[in-house]
Amino acid sequence: MRVKQIVTANVQEMSQRGAAIVAAQLTLKSHSVLGLATGSTPLGMYAELVSRNKAGEISFADARTINLDEYCDISADNKNSYRYYMNSNFFDKIDIRKENTYLPDGMASDKQAECARYSELVDALGGIDLQVLGIGMNGHIGFNEPAAHFVMDTNCVTLTESTRNVNAQYFDGGLDEMPRYAITMGLRQIMQAKRILLLAGANKKGILEEALNGPVTPQVPASILQLHKRLTVIISES
Ligand code: PGA
Repeated sequence: MRVKQIVTANVQEMSQRGAAIVAAQLTLKSHSVLGLATGSTPLGMYAELVSRNKAGEISFADARTINLDEYCDISADNKNSYRYYMNSNFFDKIDIRKENTYLPDGMASDKQAECARYSELVDALGGIDLQVLGIGMNGHIGFNEPAAHFVMDTNCVTLTESTRNVNAQYFDGGLDEMPRYAITMGLRQIMQAKRILLLAGANKKGILEEALNGPVTPQVPASILQLHKRLTVIISES
């Protein structure tokens, strides 16, 4: 395993270091396919990328983005959907063309067909050049939850109680409103990314240590990253 690990003093520095890597990827290849993540961790990085875009330092005009996951049965205009998160925190503020931004359709009536379509979409885009990841308190990446085996392709998952409890804070109605199901890109799509950038706040130190240095096991889905050859991890100390 070749992990480049960057330890930063705080979240601001983590966000700047992360944004610098995404910016360099765009400089190397303007039509990069960026795999993107939601959650609280990458918010500062998106803000930094917005600043750099507004300053004219980088352009997303030719970029394509594909997100890791989306809740099931929450519409795009619901403020808790990941489409809403991506538009309001990032896409609406940069020069990307919205038609080049992709998330799973959580409203699709046929979830299995949507999962198959999404896996094919990653392939049709030519794979992911740089995948941004967070890590769940339970070791999930995307919404690939701890399980008896690694799930390789885009799939519809039942969210664990741990994930539902952590994410319920974002829903006005708390746990009652928090979805039970989500569509997530599978581990194949993530692991086939040419480069992976994982961001983790100080609260993830323990699970990150377990994922990177413990046994590779589907009980800690992020542990599969030990097999990736170009993984950069940025962890904030506070
Ligand atoms: P967080 O979520 O950034 O909100 O901590 C990360 C994740 O669940 O993957």
